[in-house]
Amino acid sequence: MTMMLERNEELKELAIKEMEAHRETVEGDHYRSRYHLMPPVGLLNDPNGFIQWNGVYHVFFQWMPFSTEHGAKFWGHYTSTDLVHWELAPTALTPGDWYDKNGCYSGSAISHKDKMLLFYTGNVKDEAGNRETYQCLAESTDGIHFDKKGVVLDLPEGYTAHFRDPKVWQHLDKWYMVIGTQNLAEEGRVVLFQSSDLKNWELKGDVTASGHQGLGSFGYMWECPDLFELDGTDVLLFSPQGLEPEGDLYQNVHQTGYLTGQLDYEDGKLSHGSFRELDRGFEFYAPQTTLDENGRRLLIGWMGVPEQGEDYHPTREHKWIHMLTIPRELHYVNDKLIQRPVPELEALRHERVEKTASLSNEKIEWTEMNGTVYELLLQLRKVDGSFSIHFRNHASMIFDSEEQKLTFKRMSFIDGNEESRSCSIAEVSELRFYVDASSIEVFVNGGEEVFTSRTFPSENEESLVFKAVGEVQFEAIKWNLK
Ligand code: FRU
Repeated sequence: MTMMLERNEELKELAIKEMEAHRETVEGDHYRSRYHLMPPVGLLNDPNGFIQWNGVYHVFFQWMPFSTEHGAKFWGHYTSTDLVHWELAPTALTPGDWYDKNGCYSGSAISHKDKMLLFYTGNVKDEAGNRETYQCLAESTDGIHFDKKGVVLDLPEGYTAHFRDPKVWQHLDKWYMVIGTQNLAEEGRVVLFQSSDLKNWELKGDVTASGHQGLGSFGYMWECPDLFELDGTDVLLFSPQGLEPEGDLYQNVHQTGYLTGQLDYEDGKLSHGSFRELDRGFEFYAPQTTLDENGRRLLIGWMGVPEQGEDYHPTREHKWIHMLTIPRELHYVNDKLIQRPVPELEALRHERVEKTASLSNEKIEWTEMNGTVYELLLQLRKVDGSFSIHFRNHASMIFDSEEQKLTFKRMSFIDGNEESRSCSIAEVSELRFYVDASSIEVFVNGGEEVFTSRTFPSENEESLVFKAVGEVQFEAIKWNLK
């Protein structure tokens, strides 16, 4: 026991040294985020343990402090009282025990009897590379220091060791946990467990799976499930791996989306309709939600995709890679999830510029609108033809009213060629852009569609250009953010 504790303490110390050694290199990167969560050093991937606890928001994150590659993950930790200004807290979990020695993988947080509890996956690999998986518990009385309590759930029969990412919630007088996995035939699914004491977990069965309820063949592995009630429906959010591209859909290496319907807590089945992608951009994966103390369902995602060009991110030269999305509030409207930036983000606004324009086969650039870190709100009064907005001569958003298509384009950070993501949409009345030094998140018509992407323009290029092919009228408001 003492030895293991030492290993965890040693790993925490090493992470601090790594942060200190590379602080200037990371901070010297013009691509570093100004208002998104990024790793202090090294690699960040999934958000974990998103919770508001005693008034304070906590976001943990999958963290590899020692390199910009995936490996034996830590849980880094940020806290905030307003979802906007975050502070780095001491490392919450380190892979220093036999049951998590190859990574404290993703999981969730709950509040229980004055404690914060973390459920996470202990990833273990033997010398031959065989994988083992354990669902583990850690507890905290102050929300800052966590005591590992070890394994609460072993791998049941019928699933491979790709069995991970516990998301726990309470329903009536019981606790429930969903886990992302694959069966022995390597078909993706989500399984449900039930517990009365958070220690003994009973398997209820597959919530749903590839090949079930009209899904067809739907991937070999489902990661990071989340199941919650929202505006009168049950939502299963997950990140399936192994979907083939289909028109505008499933263009990234791995996807994220959701099913809606009704969960039967007795037999553990979700009756649901078809799968919808949650985001249309290039980088979005493994989001997690929480219900905050105001009853809002909030979501935060990883602005990255596993195995999608990760080796080519230019920030690696500066010893860091990836960031999280801004926090968003979720609603369920007309059979669809709507994502809206949380209003707290307005606290970042300063220096407002407003313009009105009527363009006819022309382009316009107002130098006061240029910049690198801002929010831009466009109210489109008329689009007869096509309207495009060009960011830093590097990325653009185009709405074609005849084709009824909305497209985001950028220059690839792999080969510099132009690449695009699109969705069909009949009308676009509002576009809200959250632009940071190396990312753009676009919220369409109040969050009906969202495009989330990383962008790596030249440092000194700050242009913002509006172009009309045909007739376009709009109002634009831009706030610099800080
Ligand atoms: C998703 C994921 C999870 C896993 C974690 C490891 O990106 O692969 O399934 O728990 O990352 O970092």
